[in-house]
Amino acid sequence: MSDPSPTALAGKVALVTGASRGIGLAVAESLQAAGAHVVRLARGLADGTTGRRTDLRCDVTDPAAVERAVGRVLSDRGIPDIVVNNAGIFFIKPVAETTPDDFSRTLAVNLTGPFLVTRALVPHLVGRGAGHFVTIGSISDHVAFTGSTAYAASKFGLRGMHEVLRAELSRTGVRTTIVSPGPVDTPIWDPIDPDGRSGFTKRSAMLQAGDVAEAVLFAVTRAPRVDVTEIRLLPTVYSLRG
Ligand SMILES: NC(=O)c1ccc[n+]([C@@H]2O[C@H](COP(=O)([O-])OP(=O)(O)OC[C@H]3O[C@@H](n4cnc5c(N)ncnc54)[C@H](OP(=O)(O)O)[C@@H]3O)[C@@H](O)[C@H]2O)c1
Repeated sequence: MSDPSPTALAGKVALVTGASRGIGLAVAESLQAAGAHVVRLARGLADGTTGRRTDLRCDVTDPAAVERAVGRVLSDRGIPDIVVNNAGIFFIKPVAETTPDDFSRTLAVNLTGPFLVTRALVPHLVGRGAGHFVTIGSISDHVAFTGSTAYAASKFGLRGMHEVLRAELSRTGVRTTIVSPGPVDTPIWDPIDPDGRSGFTKRSAMLQAGDVAEAVLFAVTRAPRVDVTEIRLLPTVYSLRG
């Protein structure tokens, strides 16, 4: 894709969760480069605004924190035009070694977080009759991998929730896109060390965060009549453990 016009999203407000690093950071930077004012949410960000970027510290698993952050966005920036549910966590363990806390924490971040953000904003986007929810899924939202009990449960669930959202919003003017990448070279892989394990795509062959950001930007810059329902991305050369 050629570089988008720096005014393609001028005047638009985008909210991106998990935007302090990795895919979320790349998405935030690319939406900002296309002219949007971007609100980044993550636990490790300090509140503040610089130019067309606002940062809000927010744990998306905490209903009160999400309510507070969404309230700030609505009062300070207005109704977001683009909402990207990206924050997520990932680990690999066989089911018997997955602790109840591992499991519930993964569902809390990857599934409850997007639910809380979406439910707080749906009435506003629907009331305006325009807007775009983008869900960052994963290849694990439609393919099963060993060691992925919790992650697959969260991402298959996220796909299900996203599909229901699309059905509920189909007559409202609000668009919905799920972007499902294979392995992307981000800090999420640091504790796993895929280069040192067999059966994993090497980091140098993985997608880059910017590749996913390009897919998001493509979806949100189509003509309003076009809803890009789903984008799946894989590295051209990959090795996926089964
Ligand atoms: N990398 C891959 O191979 C890959 C492939 C397919 C899909 N994905 C998906 O892409 C998304 C981003 O992954 P990534 O690879 O970019 O991961 P990453 O580099 O580890 O970044 C994760 C982001 O989520 C934020 N986050 C984590 N827990 C949070 C919480 N409770 N509340 C708010 N923010 C939270 C982190 O910020 P703080 O720690 O500061 O909160 C960080 O900004 C995830 O949904 C992941 O499942 C990744």
